[in-house]
Amino acid sequence: MDKIVIEGGVPLRGTVQASGAKNAALPIVAAALLAEGDHLVRNVPDLADVRTMGRLLGHMGCTFERSGDHHAAAVRVPAAVTPEAPYELVKTMRASVVVLGPLVARWGRARVSLPGGCAIGARPIDQHLKGLSALGATIELAHGYVTATAPRGRLRGAVFTFDGQTVTGTENIMMAAALAEGRSVLRNCAREPEVADLAAALVGMGARIEGAGTDELRIDGVERLRPLDHHVIADRIEAGTFLVAGALPGCDVTVLGCEARHLEALVEKLRAAGATVSEVAGGVRVVGDGRPRPVDVRTAPHPGFPTDMQAQMMVPLCLADGSSRVTETVFENRFMHVQELQRLGADIGIDGKTAVVRGVAGLSGAPVMASDLRASAALVLAGLAAQGTTEVLRVYHLDRGYERIEAKLAPLGARIRRAKE
Ligand code: EPU
Repeated sequence: MDKIVIEGGVPLRGTVQASGAKNAALPIVAAALLAEGDHLVRNVPDLADVRTMGRLLGHMGCTFERSGDHHAAAVRVPAAVTPEAPYELVKTMRASVVVLGPLVARWGRARVSLPGGCAIGARPIDQHLKGLSALGATIELAHGYVTATAPRGRLRGAVFTFDGQTVTGTENIMMAAALAEGRSVLRNCAREPEVADLAAALVGMGARIEGAGTDELRIDGVERLRPLDHHVIADRIEAGTFLVAGALPGCDVTVLGCEARHLEALVEKLRAAGATVSEVAGGVRVVGDGRPRPVDVRTAPHPGFPTDMQAQMMVPLCLADGSSRVTETVFENRFMHVQELQRLGADIGIDGKTAVVRGVAGLSGAPVMASDLRASAALVLAGLAAQGTTEVLRVYHLDRGYERIEAKLAPLGARIRRAKE
């Protein structure tokens, strides 16, 4: 197993390039299941989760290869697939559930392992299943698997309102509706940029979708779709993680390739914390002037403050000149980084859904262990800000969502390396 070793206390300066968005690439690659033939998806990050999606497609009889430029992925979908996602793959990546909608819509049947809980909360898929039932699918749960079947092989359009906003739930039902017979109207949809990018990819395949990026999607089902040819948007969470690094005292970081309009809620909080944030050609620059100011943060679905940035944002607040309240409203158990930040000298108390972060003058390096992807990213940022050596263990969490983070941070002056645990 790998670990990341950081000698902290060196202010970061320079430019870093954002990769393609993991959470857009995963459903877009899964969307290949909607059409037989040769698909091309560009700007796909080289991450453990993407490799898992490739293995999942392989299990179904498709081929998944990185082509020429390793950031492109070529998927070949044969004339018949095995419409099944086994427990071994779903347990390593919950996002595997996004194959459910495309499988039942295109192949009439899907058998997908139930994902179960994970480190950040219970994460049910009831809304995915309700949405598919609304489109006419028969749903059976047995032996830890959900089997969804389209009567007479095809789903039919319907009006469906999600009880709560769900990103992969919206993606699953949008993909299913794209091939259903007739019109669907989906309400209370997630508005995350990744959902809109999937809609753009589907429109490129010939789908008829209106309202992408809003909470109401109107979809006229078509009989067949053509293969994908799509360029994935930049990863706003990876970019946001580097922007938070730029907001640490004495740092000056420019992230290229990211879209400022996808990062508004974060930029607002970084400015409130005292950082200078500006849009520059092709990206966003953040300069961290002096000690951060305390800021209250409350996570919410997009365009609110992203839960996927909550752990990272806590790092400058740990060093702020005063107390901040960080409230997590999306997942019930997403404060696993707090205990590890405390090992680095942070002063944080948890009161239900709220972490009260009392700023300290400095952090000090220590070995820490991460429980999930974004928590690991927060520990890397904290290690960069801390005096002395920090070792972040269990780097496999980080590798699920960040493409060689150490190779991106080192040119900014970070003393960071990967080593064996
Ligand atoms: N929920 C339900 N029922 C459902 C689906 C969701 O109650 O059927 C609840 C969840 O328990 C949660 C809330 O709705 O409390 C929102 O969950 P959502 O379904 O939106 O999350 P997700 O689709 O499973 C995606 C990202 C996550 C990100 C969340 C929230 C992907 C592959 N994953 O998950 O990303 O945190 O949206 O923005 O898109 C990450 O990249 O580190 C990550 C965890």
